[in-house]
Amino acid sequence: MQTNILVTGGAGFVGRNLVARLIKGNETKTIWVIDDLSTGISPHQWPELKLEAAGREGDIHIFQAKGTPGTIKFIKSDVLPVFLGELGNIPVTISFKLPKMDYVYHLASIVGGRVKIDGDPLSVGLDLAIDSVFFLWAAKVNRPDRILYASSSAAYPISLQEADKDIALREEMIDFEKGFAAPDFTYGWSKLTGEFLSRIAHRNYGLSAAVIRPFSGYGEWQEPVYPVPAIAMRAAAKYDPLYVWGTGEQCRDFVHIEDCITCMLLAIENIKDGSAVNIGSGVATSFLELATLMGDIAGYKPKVKGKAGMPVGVAKRYCDPEYTREKLGFYPTISLREGMTRVVEVAGKRIEIGVPIPE
Ligand SMILES: NC(=O)c1ccc[n+]([C@@H]2O[C@H](COP(=O)([O-])OP(=O)(O)OC[C@H]3O[C@@H](n4cnc5c(N)ncnc54)[C@H](O)[C@@H]3O)[C@@H](O)[C@H]2O)c1
Repeated sequence: MQTNILVTGGAGFVGRNLVARLIKGNETKTIWVIDDLSTGISPHQWPELKLEAAGREGDIHIFQAKGTPGTIKFIKSDVLPVFLGELGNIPVTISFKLPKMDYVYHLASIVGGRVKIDGDPLSVGLDLAIDSVFFLWAAKVNRPDRILYASSSAAYPISLQEADKDIALREEMIDFEKGFAAPDFTYGWSKLTGEFLSRIAHRNYGLSAAVIRPFSGYGEWQEPVYPVPAIAMRAAAKYDPLYVWGTGEQCRDFVHIEDCITCMLLAIENIKDGSAVNIGSGVATSFLELATLMGDIAGYKPKVKGKAGMPVGVAKRYCDPEYTREKLGFYPTISLREGMTRVVEVAGKRIEIGVPIPE
């Protein structure tokens, strides 16, 4: 039987890695990708998956990956008019109706790193519209069998992530019955709201929804507006001093994208009630430590320095991975050194092809 899978925002970093994993295997499936390419990459240029154009049906661009029976149907569009059109709230803007989906991974979001989150919070607030329209469409029009909503560790209260605190963030620290403390700016509010909508979608509309809270996901071809690929490029170019933003003492819980995808696949199969799981290792690594590791991987010993005046976010954000382990049997398998070695290697390739080294 034909499986239909929709990945909104599927041309972004997480989406491309997800599609690359989903397309593997012998099962016949159609993976629908809707992405406006505001930050995503057009499918014929994906670094993670070589695709061949296989025709066009109106607004749908069809791609295939060699050696797999699956098909990717790419629609270059903002999700809002697509879903609002199918809901009947605005005139229909695309030339077809989406089939009933077996799986939907809702990843479309304005993210963009710290500069975007702190510098343009009302644009990021559009995520509230994207998520509310998505859940309405899912409940009233498409009724997919399973939904995964990409929340974020940014949904956790920032008061638990201060420099003098050492708290591993646990799923229960977001409790919709007991009330809230403020999450991380408009991005965090949108994710918290999206989580609430996931629960409502299950409780009031009978949908099966899973929520994930990835901590700092990184990988080879993540865009260099994010700190991991940016520092890796400076290390690959052997900058000395090798600088990181802020004091560099701020800590994150880094998790490789391959591990993130593994956890997402487990979550969508095993969680139905709109509840959330962390995706992280439970290890807090400072940016100073990260840059030192990258220097070592690049084969030199730079002086690692902080750079004042740059946006850095909260002081210490890392998870307690135990609930995810208990619920899904998941714990990351790719060590920080192994993952960062892959990133530094790609950073070198980026420099060779002329990608500017981020300041
Ligand atoms: N990468 C991480 O570590 C991480 C951590 C926590 C949460 N997340 C969440 O995972 C999801 C994917 O993140 P990512 O890192 O791949 O980000 P990304 O920016 O690479 O991908 C988001 C994609 O959504 C697309 N998009 C944005 N607005 C759209 C719209 N209105 N209609 C259609 N497409 C639209 C963009 O073009 C982009 O391709 C997001 O929801 C993000 O909040 C990611």
